[in-house]
Amino acid sequence: MRSRVHAIAGILGLTLITLFFTASITVELGGGEQAVTQVKLLIVFGLLVLVPSMIVTGGSGRSLIGRRSSPLIRLKQKRMIAIGTIGLGVLTPCAILLQQLSANGDFTTTFYAIQATELIGGAANITLMALNLRAGLLLTGRIQASKAK
Ligand code: HEM
Repeated sequence: MRSRVHAIAGILGLTLITLFFTASITVELGGGEQAVTQVKLLIVFGLLVLVPSMIVTGGSGRSLIGRRSSPLIRLKQKRMIAIGTIGLGVLTPCAILLQQLSANGDFTTTFYAIQATELIGGAANITLMALNLRAGLLLTGRIQASKAK
């Protein structure tokens, strides 16, 4: 049950951040300023689900460790610290700033510099979260190391 909660929270987090990432790119490439503004607002609301889901993922992951200790688990922990640092230190402030700038119609160089930073941080977190998902499936034996490569 705990493992199920952990997996659902982790996959929800990965799905949301991937959605934010692709929506940001799609709307930048094809949408007008109004569409960008709407997506930026949706992302800020999405954070209200994403942040708790990552807290549940980290907390449940820690409680699943029990007495186990393996390089795979230590790697997951290290990645989770990086995910949290990027998420709270880079992505959340970027999302809030982008929402405010877009709501004010302020699509200047500052907006695009922050947007670029958010996309780089987002790509890093998607990669780290996907690696943690793979490590989780390896830990529960749902996939084998050779097939996971
Ligand atoms: C984005 C972050 C994470 C994602 C997406 C993720 C995903 C998963 C998934 C999908 C599983 C397999 C569950 C199953 O097959 O039922 C799993 C298992 C596991 N995860 Fe994570 N995980 C994340 C972070 C963490 C963290 C931070 C820890 C703690 C170090 C952790 C510890 C574990 C452990 C110990 C298992 C094995 C559970 C068992 O044997 O029942 N995970 N994880």
